[in-house]
Amino acid sequence: MQKDYGNMSQTTDELKRQAAERAVEQVQSGMVVGLGHGSTAIYAVRRIGALIQAGTLKNVLGVPCSQQIELEARKLDIPITTLEENPVVDLTIDGADEVDPHLEVIKGGGGALLREKIVAQASRREIIVVDESKLSPALCTRFALPIEVIPFGWTTHLAFLEGLGGRPKQRMASDGSPFKTDQGNFIIDCKFDPLTTPSALAGLAEKIKARVGIVEHGFFIGIASEVIVAGTDRIRNIRR
Ligand code: A5P
Repeated sequence: MQKDYGNMSQTTDELKRQAAERAVEQVQSGMVVGLGHGSTAIYAVRRIGALIQAGTLKNVLGVPCSQQIELEARKLDIPITTLEENPVVDLTIDGADEVDPHLEVIKGGGGALLREKIVAQASRREIIVVDESKLSPALCTRFALPIEVIPFGWTTHLAFLEGLGGRPKQRMASDGSPFKTDQGNFIIDCKFDPLTTPSALAGLAEKIKARVGIVEHGFFIGIASEVIVAGTDRIRNIRR
């Protein structure tokens, strides 16, 4: 199902903001809200913070998907909760790296995929917010798949992933050291050829997930309830 809204234009950042703020229109007072990580989701966090400060939203609790977003949310005076206190999240708003026509998604470009997936699976609804550059005919066309691995024995996964047709590479931080997730794990970014059928996607996801030492992969399959895409001419709400 698609809905069109009015005319839009501007830069990618502006499109990210528009998509995120459109999603925040679905946040209601009293909700437990998952706060996604990344340069798009942060606009939703800021908007939620502004609406709480204005008194428009009341009794909203946020479940941050990363330590960084938790800090941001606290700065904005968004009340924070945990999944221990609130195991069911009403609505999560998060970004994505690549979105296919079936609303399957790659996430993890920001390295927060594990917490993002835990929060997503605890959520009644997951709204993915993207600018139109994230749309893709098939996952892995534009983006390498982020895979979180525990440090112990992590190099053994490289040959395994090559055996699945991948081209894996360890993610490095800007200072040249290995990138570490909030859990202290590493990320392997693994390029694959585009996954043009749902069965190819599901099959690859299953094989990766079954590997001991791989904590999680960035395929979010069957998770997005809705994707909000901001383009230069319109914003679309695409529902599953
Ligand atoms: C964080 O780990 C990711 O899943 C992000 O949601 C994703 O990388 C999109 O990020 P941007 O909104 O910054 O492009």
